[in-house]
Amino acid sequence: MPATLTMNDTDLSLPPELERNLRKRAGQLRMLPAVATEALQIAKDPDCSLSEFAAVVERDLKLASDILKIANSALYSPTVPITSLHRAVVRVGFRECQNLIMAASMASLMNRMSLEHEWIRGVLWRHSFNTALVAIHLNRTFHFGFGGDEFTAGLMHDFGRMLFAVAVPDQFAEIDPLEFEEPEAILDNETAVIGTDHCRLGAWFARENQLPEALIDVILHHHQPNEARRARRLTALIRVADDMANHLQRHEESAGYQPEDNPALPVLKEFGEPGFATHFCEVAPALMQEAQKDAESLMQL
Ligand SMILES: [Fe+2]
Ligand SMILES: [Fe+2]
Repeated sequence: MPATLTMNDTDLSLPPELERNLRKRAGQLRMLPAVATEALQIAKDPDCSLSEFAAVVERDLKLASDILKIANSALYSPTVPITSLHRAVVRVGFRECQNLIMAASMASLMNRMSLEHEWIRGVLWRHSFNTALVAIHLNRTFHFGFGGDEFTAGLMHDFGRMLFAVAVPDQFAEIDPLEFEEPEAILDNETAVIGTDHCRLGAWFARENQLPEALIDVILHHHQPNEARRARRLTALIRVADDMANHLQRHEESAGYQPEDNPALPVLKEFGEPGFATHFCEVAPALMQEAQKDAESLMQL
């Protein structure tokens, strides 16, 4: 693959009928409210101050209160409750705060979308959170060095499934029984029935929203991390977390999980410290329990 190739070269166009259905049923497909876009833009400026950033976010009350909730959650465990947005930004860190904006925006988009079967929202939301939190714990335990990108990528990796549920409700059960078994043929099956798969659909949505290219790469390749171009390490991390989250979804506990069978372990191993695979197999169950506990508290958002 030539090094100069970017995600912009990947054709992510949707079958026309699917795109029509989506635009009709999902309505406003913009993920980031205007204030969030402005805040993320400001954050790109290396000279931008925390106060300036917090002042912009504060103009969107829902966004500001979601960030405060996350900063006060078990994920950051402050000793004293945080009540000001400025302190929340200091507490969680500037870079992570940008990811919280994305997370809060995605949470409100998911809540706005209308579904024929309401229970699907909760199931997919739980899977997103479990994956994101397992990714956070993996990143912390094994020092992969991500500063919040793993949280956003975990939350968003399967957003295409939600979009399928919205756009093609009558065919959804056929393509996605929400069993979290994920047989190898899952993407081919989706393409045979709908004309595209949930990875491409999610990536299309991320590009529509001008989200970072690395995030588009993760969403597009999370079932084949080896094919990722710009963010292979993050894609492998998310795939490893995804497999663990699938087990949690099926069994509601880590018991019975076989870490050595994780399909993306060989890819992630390339980026791990010496002895990573052995260490991973030892700590995976405990790490899953931790992530699940955090997910319980954050799901209340
Ligand atoms: Fe997926
Ligand atoms: Fe997933």
